[in-house]
Amino acid sequence: MAAPKIIFDCDPGHDDAVAILLAAQHCEVLAITTVSGNAPLALTTQNALLMCELAELDIPVHAGADRPLLVRAAHAPRAHGATGLDGPPRPEVHRSEASNDAVGCIIETVRGHDDVWLVPVGPLTNVALAFRQAPDIVERIAGVSLMGGAVGPGNVTPTAEFNIWADPHAAQIVFTAGAPVVRMAGLNLTRQLCVGATESAALRAHGGTVPAFVAELFDFYLAGYRRRTGVAAAPMHDPCAVLAVTRPDLFAFTARHVDVETDGTLTRGMTVADERPGTDASPNCEVAVRIDASPALELIVEAVCSYR
Ligand code: RIB
Ligand code: CA
Repeated sequence: MAAPKIIFDCDPGHDDAVAILLAAQHCEVLAITTVSGNAPLALTTQNALLMCELAELDIPVHAGADRPLLVRAAHAPRAHGATGLDGPPRPEVHRSEASNDAVGCIIETVRGHDDVWLVPVGPLTNVALAFRQAPDIVERIAGVSLMGGAVGPGNVTPTAEFNIWADPHAAQIVFTAGAPVVRMAGLNLTRQLCVGATESAALRAHGGTVPAFVAELFDFYLAGYRRRTGVAAAPMHDPCAVLAVTRPDLFAFTARHVDVETDGTLTRGMTVADERPGTDASPNCEVAVRIDASPALELIVEAVCSYR
C-alpha cells in the first residue's frame, strides 16, 4: 500500500522532532510547515530545518504563523527549553526555509494532490488560516490527524492542553470545519505512550549521529518530566498523530462531537467532547482513547535508528 501523503505542521519541540523522523520513514511528507508554539516561529522553523539537515531529509520547510489568531503568543520553555530543542549541542544549520508562506503551501499542496492528510502537532493557526482562505481544501483532504486537546486533565491548565490553549480560536475553526475525518490524539491518549531510560539506552546502543542526538533530546525531555512529575517517563505526544495515520490498527477511537472553549476563564482551550449517553450531537471527531504502546514505541525507536 502506498505511503500516506501528509503535510506535517509543527512547532519543534522535542516530540515534534521525533515525529518528523517517524513521519519521514512511514509517510510521503510533501511539506513541513512551522508555527509559533513551543518556541517563537524563528526557532521552531530553525529546529525543523535542523532535524531535516541532521537526518538528511529532502523535505521543504515553510514557515507559517508567528502568532495565534487572536490571543497573545505563548511558548513552552519549561518543557522544551529556550531554543525549543534544548539538550544536545546545536549543530550548525545551513538550510533555509523554502518560504514564509506555510498557509499558501498547505493550500497549493492540497489543491495539487489527492488524499493528503494534514498532521498538525502544534497550535492550529496555519491550518485554520488555510481553511479560512481556501474553504475548498477542507473536502479535498483525506483528514486531519492532530495532536491536541484532551478528554480529561489538561497540561497547561487543569482543563486545557497546550496546542489548543495556545490558539483556541484556530482550534475551533479546525474542529468545526467539516473535514472528512478529524482524528484527535489528546493527552488522555498520548500519556499512554511514554519513553524512558530504556529507549534512550536503545538509541545509544545502536549508535549513529541521529540516534545519539535524539537520546540527548530524550535526556533533556525526561529530566523535565522527572522534575515536574517525579516520574522519569515522557509522553511522545506528537508521534501519536503520525501513528494515527500510519498505524490506526494500534489505536482505539470513539466518535464524539468535540468543540473548543475559546473564552472561559478556567476553561479556555478545553476540548469539550460530548459524552452524554444518547446525545443527538453528531460526531465530528475520532477521539483516540487507547494505543498499543509497546509496538508504537518499537516503531519510534526503529525509525530513529534507521538514520545515520
Ligand atoms: O501538549 C503537548 C503538545 O504541546 C505537543 O505537541 C508538544 O510538542 C507541545 O507542542
Ligand atoms: Ca508540538
